[in-house]
Amino acid sequence: MKVNENYAKIPGSYLFSEIARRVAAFSSAYPRREIISLGIGDVTLPLPPAVIEAMQKAVAEMGEAATFRGYGPEQGYAFLRETIVEHDFAAHGIGITPDEVFISDGAKSDCGNIGDLFSVDNRVAVCDPVYPVYVDTNAMAGRAGDYDKETGRWSNLLYLPCMKENGFVPKVPQEKADVIYLCFPNNPTGAVATREQLTEWVDYALYNNAIILFDAAYEAFITDPAIPHSIYEIPGAEHCAIELRSFSKTAGFTGTRCGYTVVPNALERDGQSLRAMWNRRQSTKFNGTAYIVQRAAEAVYTPEGQAQTRANIEIYRNNAEQIRRGLEGAGLTVHGGKNAPYIWAETPAGMGSWETFDLLLHEAGVVTTPGVGFGPCGEGYIRLSSFGDPKKLPTALMRIRAALGK
Ligand code: MLT
Repeated sequence: MKVNENYAKIPGSYLFSEIARRVAAFSSAYPRREIISLGIGDVTLPLPPAVIEAMQKAVAEMGEAATFRGYGPEQGYAFLRETIVEHDFAAHGIGITPDEVFISDGAKSDCGNIGDLFSVDNRVAVCDPVYPVYVDTNAMAGRAGDYDKETGRWSNLLYLPCMKENGFVPKVPQEKADVIYLCFPNNPTGAVATREQLTEWVDYALYNNAIILFDAAYEAFITDPAIPHSIYEIPGAEHCAIELRSFSKTAGFTGTRCGYTVVPNALERDGQSLRAMWNRRQSTKFNGTAYIVQRAAEAVYTPEGQAQTRANIEIYRNNAEQIRRGLEGAGLTVHGGKNAPYIWAETPAGMGSWETFDLLLHEAGVVTTPGVGFGPCGEGYIRLSSFGDPKKLPTALMRIRAALGK
């Protein structure tokens, strides 16, 4: 018997598990210290009342023989797929159809699972810094090659540096990539891509016969009307892009679990329909998202659900603005946090990402995320999440200022 040897190549533990380990160690050493998390992008506001009501109604249905549901469609219930198409696409002039929408238990699973559709020989391009799931799942599948501890990079991945100089939005490379992960609004930098920048990527993918995996998990944070919410706003994207969306950050579903992936009918490679392949994959390996959860997600699109989710997002947006101002007041240079829930702050002069993370944890009792955890180009940055408890934010910012001697 042989195990998947790729797992042995993956360094350490998953970024957020390592952070949780350090926080737990600190907390057990200093049990009386109150810790405030601005680390992992986990929501803190409760689910909107419209969502709770829909869930309760669905729970009652499950308790009655006449309305009980067993296995649902692996692709998701038509009521949710149709609602999604109407609100997220048709309302914006995008011609996605319900059969192109696949409901799941969240974008993280889809991000990892979508790799099933791609050959191990594909050249995968990722941003640096990047959401670690894209890299780790490709490493597990054997597409990333070997890990170099010195550089913190995988031999077969094509890295797209996202730095201050390019506004944290990567240029299309000279080399050919087969699969490209793009996430805008970006995790971790909070950068957004313009229509022109996304058009360059779509043109690149079409020219190179590549596929873009577009992670739009944070699109609800866009306020600037010029910034695209979906890759399908770019002409030709239906021939080269798969889009991943989530209810986690939009409607507070991090613990409820629901997302969806769009695989257009027009997307074909090697004479095969990617939509048909994904359908085959999902119907074989997945039995659908819980009926109760899909009813909850549907309620997000009702007028009350929309008003309530927008009100919550407004609170997180206000958090982002406060964090930006608070960190500037603490003498840091900040990026992101506009049209995006993440603030990407430069670490104090001469301090690395982990060093700053440790200082803020130990001196301020505030959890952040070290930029280098997202890739070598993240060194010299820390990420702060705007999803923290708004009531605790002023204390967190005051403590950060004190810890940084301001
Ligand atoms: C993050 O903090 O980067 C996110 O919460 C990760 C995720 O959505 O899985």
